[in-house]
Amino acid sequence: MAEQAVRPEIKLPEVKMNIYSPRNPVEVPVVENRIVTRESSPNFIRHVSFDISDTKLQDNIQLGQSFGILPPGKNEKGRPYKLRLYSLASPYHGENGNQRIISTTVKRIIEEWENEGELYLGVCSNFLCNLRPGETVKMTGPAGRRFLLPENRNDFNYVFFATGTGIAPFRGMVYDLLKEGIESDIYLIFGTPYRTDILYEDYFRGLEEAHPNFHFMVYVSREDRRADGSKKYVQFAIDDHQEQFIPLLSQDNTLLYICGLQGMQAGIYKQLARHNLYEYLELKDSIQGKDPDEWTSKDIKRRIKPGTRTFVEVY
Ligand SMILES: Cc1cc2nc3c(=O)[nH]c(=O)nc-3n(C[C@H](O)[C@H](O)[C@H](O)COP(=O)(O)OP(=O)(O)OC[C@H]3O[C@@H](n4cnc5c(N)ncnc54)[C@H](O)[C@@H]3O)c2cc1C
Ligand SMILES: NC(=O)c1ccc[n+]([C@@H]2O[C@H](COP(=O)([O-])OP(=O)(O)OC[C@H]3O[C@@H](n4cnc5c(N)ncnc54)[C@H](OP(=O)(O)O)[C@@H]3O)[C@@H](O)[C@H]2O)c1
Repeated sequence: MAEQAVRPEIKLPEVKMNIYSPRNPVEVPVVENRIVTRESSPNFIRHVSFDISDTKLQDNIQLGQSFGILPPGKNEKGRPYKLRLYSLASPYHGENGNQRIISTTVKRIIEEWENEGELYLGVCSNFLCNLRPGETVKMTGPAGRRFLLPENRNDFNYVFFATGTGIAPFRGMVYDLLKEGIESDIYLIFGTPYRTDILYEDYFRGLEEAHPNFHFMVYVSREDRRADGSKKYVQFAIDDHQEQFIPLLSQDNTLLYICGLQGMQAGIYKQLARHNLYEYLELKDSIQGKDPDEWTSKDIKRRIKPGTRTFVEVY
């Protein structure tokens, strides 16, 4: 753990926003599109890379930010589809150190709509997953101002919680932190329905082997159970590994990042409160003193904000 003296100030970088807007997107080619779920998985998640050479995105998109994709075609009202955002999954210096190449992690949205019994394919995710190298997309961005690593990175420990494709931003963040030689603790707790969907497992295990301060924990919700029979959800890591997480999260210089499904935010907030780690939350007066087990989704949405050391991006 990084030694804790005085509480360090969190210096977030100034970031560029919307250099390319939906009215003024930039066209870039896909250079790689590979599946990252195993063959036997019921899900299809892909790692998609783009060449941003000679665009203003090069050097200007930061870890934790997203870019927009404008899918071709029109909606049922005859209007062009709106943009969808995708998190930057590559390190700051690009895929394999190539600053011209950025990437993201895309899950195909495939649903059966109950009433109609019809198959629904998400517009943009399937557009992206179907692309072949050489084909182009209309890109916007960068987007996002707060879900960032601080400039004074060495001053902190990091606890990253991800579900599903929410792991995307942590792929680049963990790599860069370790490459910069940070010796403080970095935990990545990843939640996934099946073992076939452990995204970038070899990559994170490789980093874990090379760097004893990095820990990759996987919570598989539909194949494993906790001792009390409940589902293995990421937020329970705080409970299951109290000996590691309580001392770490109790330090003034630990930062907490949450990315992925909306439901995990409530789960993590409640676990933090149960362990008296209120420093990570900002509670409005109307909810002070209320038992966290009684917190409703409205409370979580309206009456609890992330504290200064908590960074959240959930959808
Ligand atoms: C900041 C941010 C970062 C993100 N990063 C990523 C990322 O890294 N990777 C990733 O995979 N995703 C990411 N997302 C989500 C992404 O932006 C898209 O929302 C996602 O890919 C689905 O888009 P789609 O066009 O495929 O689905 P859509 O076609 O938009 O469908 C999405 C949902 O809307 C429902 N829907 C569509 N039409 C109707 C209708 N007429 N009536 C009722 N329901 C309807 C569908 O059933 C489906 O559940 C991110 C989102 C945000 C906000
Ligand atoms: N930057 C961003 O904001 C960003 C980036 C990437 C992705 N995303 C969003 O992240 C989401 C990822 O979805 P996905 O389909 O990839 O995930 P998923 O595979 O459906 O779920 C991942 C895991 O989360 C578990 N889970 C479900 N409810 C939970 C809860 N309340 N608390 C904790 N864990 C819970 C699931 O368990 P069960 O299914 O077994 O219940 C599963 O194990 C999408 O909504 C995407 O838009 C956001």
